Amino acid sequence: MTNIYGIILHGGAGRYRLFTKEFVEKRKRELRRAALYAFEELKTGSALDAVEAAIKYMEDSGLFNAGKGSSLTITKEIEMDAGIMDGKTLKCGAVACVKNIKNPIKLARLVLEKTDHIFLAGPGAEKVAEILGMKIEPIKITPEKIRKFERVFKLWLEGKWGTHLFRLKTLYKDFIEGTVGAVAIDKDRNIAAATSTGGYSLKLPGRVGDTPLVGCGFYADNSAGGASATGVGEYLTLIFACKTACDFMRQGVSAMKAAEATIDILTRRFGPHTGGIITVDPMGRIGFAYNTEGMGKSIMTSYMGEPAVAVFPEEDHIILKSIKK
Ligand code: GLY
Repeated sequence: MTNIYGIILHGGAGRYRLFTKEFVEKRKRELRRAALYAFEELKTGSALDAVEAAIKYMEDSGLFNAGKGSSLTITKEIEMDAGIMDGKTLKCGAVACVKNIKNPIKLARLVLEKTDHIFLAGPGAEKVAEILGMKIEPIKITPEKIRKFERVFKLWLEGKWGTHLFRLKTLYKDFIEGTVGAVAIDKDRNIAAATSTGGYSLKLPGRVGDTPLVGCGFYADNSAGGASATGVGEYLTLIFACKTACDFMRQGVSAMKAAEATIDILTRRFGPHTGGIITVDPMGRIGFAYNTEGMGKSIMTSYMGEPAVAVFPEEDHIILKSIKK
């Protein structure tokens, strides 16, 4: 098992069958490119560098609900959350409700590297970003985003935009949903995890989901494993999704079984269509599970010639046959 290194990425769990075929294919291409981009980093760099690179790629893509592609709050603003963790040191950095940062994951990494805090939020986080030399620039709210917002806002006014679960089950067709996440293990057996999101469409201003909460949206510990979650943030937070998966792996459970056991808990407590998770264990094994229609994911490891990508359960065999269980 020595010298196995690799990365798994997700581009969100949800109602993928409501998306057009073209959109799903586009997202798969981006997931593939993101895996290749991050894997280049992993060949010479650390797991931490690789997960940051993967998330940055997807934040810049515009095809996911993170960074450039972030959805709008009910007050028609963008508020982004991100978190990153180094399994070697347990150092972690997270930001929430940032509006004017192109790559929230870069700010989260700066919090990890340059401060003795874990989590910064709102205008304070942006002030620190500026002090640390990051450019402050608002994410552009495109006419397309406004059009989609108006459509769903109307439904909300009519009382047809209910709970989070209802949102996931019904109206996501017209939205670019898809939190992004990555978990990697490098040549030195160090594990890292990172997650980034624009949160929910029509979320209340100031709402923070699982994504930037350590143990909920992301977690990494070399002696247990790493995980990144996607789905209904409130539910994932209540079961500490990523810490739960890592605790399974700490007991020797494989990455795949740990992911499945965690999503099992999520489904039992909160029902189907609530989320997904990706995992890596200290042996370099990779896992994933979801209870939604699909979860965009791509994998690239040192024993694979090219990335494997899949969204729907009927495609998952493509990934399963390319990874060592
Ligand atoms: N899982 C992303 C969110 O709930 O914000």
